[in-house]
Amino acid sequence: MEHTRWYKDRVFYQIWPRSFKDGNGDGMGDLWGVLEKLDYIQSLGADGIWFSPLYPSPGADCGYDISDYMDIAPEYGGMEAFRKLLAEAHQRGMKVIMDLVINHTSDEHPWFEKSRRREEPYTDYYIWRPAKPGGKLPNNWDSNFEGKAWTYDDVRGEYYLHLFAVKQPDLNMDNPLVREEVKKILRFWLDMGVDGFREDVVTFISKEEGLPDEKLPLPTGKGISHYNHGPRIHEYLSEFYRDVFSHYDCMTLAEAPMVTPKKALEYIDEQKSNELDMVIQFETVCADCLFTDWMPMKFSLRKLKRSFSRWQKELDGRACNMIYLENHDHPRVISRYGSEKFRVESGKMLAAAYLFQKGTPFIYQGQEIGMTNWRPDSPDKYEDVQTIWQYENTALRKSDEERLHRLWRSSRDSARTPMQWSAERHAGFSDVKPWFYVNKNFRRINVAAQEEDADSLLNFYRKAIALRKRLDVVKNGTYREFEKNSTQHYIYSRETDSRKLYVICSFSRRETKFKCPAGLDTDRAKLILQNYPKQKPDILKPYETRVYLME
Ligand code: GLC
Ligand code: CA
Repeated sequence: MEHTRWYKDRVFYQIWPRSFKDGNGDGMGDLWGVLEKLDYIQSLGADGIWFSPLYPSPGADCGYDISDYMDIAPEYGGMEAFRKLLAEAHQRGMKVIMDLVINHTSDEHPWFEKSRRREEPYTDYYIWRPAKPGGKLPNNWDSNFEGKAWTYDDVRGEYYLHLFAVKQPDLNMDNPLVREEVKKILRFWLDMGVDGFREDVVTFISKEEGLPDEKLPLPTGKGISHYNHGPRIHEYLSEFYRDVFSHYDCMTLAEAPMVTPKKALEYIDEQKSNELDMVIQFETVCADCLFTDWMPMKFSLRKLKRSFSRWQKELDGRACNMIYLENHDHPRVISRYGSEKFRVESGKMLAAAYLFQKGTPFIYQGQEIGMTNWRPDSPDKYEDVQTIWQYENTALRKSDEERLHRLWRSSRDSARTPMQWSAERHAGFSDVKPWFYVNKNFRRINVAAQEEDADSLLNFYRKAIALRKRLDVVKNGTYREFEKNSTQHYIYSRETDSRKLYVICSFSRRETKFKCPAGLDTDRAKLILQNYPKQKPDILKPYETRVYLME
């Protein structure tokens, strides 16, 4: 079937279901809640939804530990609510993509239960190894979440590999039976009408034969050089494409840690077009850290710009960029690259910084109203498995206050609090006490208040998205960057033969000198979007942004 690449003209909204909207009054987000808010999502101009996992799960990693791939968890509304949601979304012209987590399952998945008891044909569904002589672990790999990547299973009498939590055993993708299971899952959802998948850490699914020790002197993540973009990854992805995806007009978006544009093209080059459509790269969410949020550094605008620009340039004409600033795995962007003090100004500026780039933008729930990092008063309040391990085990020999600050800065929970719908009790998320803490700032920051205010961040997102959709230059224009070395400004243009769009962003908390980029004539150009009511010709205010159009 022809792949129409419909994803290219869309804007996606990511729903992390537990915290989006509780529809049945049990304190947990669910699909009934999403149904209530579908008009809201549409009102943003979003015409695609990515659901973080909705499947039955023990919840060791908030749904990324799946115990049944062909069902929807009852607490989210089960299959009935999902079918309804899918129909309603399609009726509105919206596409729906699911999260596909096939690097690992839950340890409560029936496959694992049978595999640990060596029941055929499940014996080799996972990666089992005996202890090394002297009772040593099979190799020196680290789990990305908690300690070492191996846990001993008493039932089987062997170790199993888990690149993530102990309750997330890695599947053995080298086993053709496992790949057939994956294809069954894909067909099941595609046949139901789902439009595609976001594929969780899919670049990790092929492990190097023999599982050799990590030789690189990595402080964390040992093993990654032997399983990221592993030896048979292209073989497996093209097999999924050939046997399943090529038969549907669907899209695939692969989460790809540490991927470069060059590497990405091995998967998504449209000339080849036989593996994946887009990748989620990590560079743009790591301009203030070294590889992970747990190794924070000072925010570097130049690092961010280098990343933006190289992805724009290197994928141009060859593949589609997935562009984003937030998702459920990272703290809130205003708290990182912007300023909580200039929350609205910097939120708007950050929106303009990425929404006019070429590609398919993704917005994470709450980003559009400028939610900021949750700031609890005690470390006991954190829920996330990775956060808890980091807190207990990293040698942060610091004061309690400093440790709390680190959690605020680095934890995924900073961005997982319930969506702030209104100033009412529990932020309008639920009628009862929610499963997780509501950010205390909800009376000030919420959807209802921003609906009323024409100048709100929410309405800025709507305007920016509407412009994106209306202007061909945003879809097709050539990308060009100005003032590359500036540590205060990010300025880029998009150009076609007949139009030029200039996007000016200040990342400074002070007023800065502004020099018009080459080709921009502010007398002739139309100012089509801005975050201050009045502009000075040669000054940019704190976090000022302006978008000019020249025709
Ligand atoms: C991905 C998901 C993350 C999850 C992990 C393990 O990185 O985005 O939320 O914890 O994979 O599945
Ligand atoms: Ca609920």
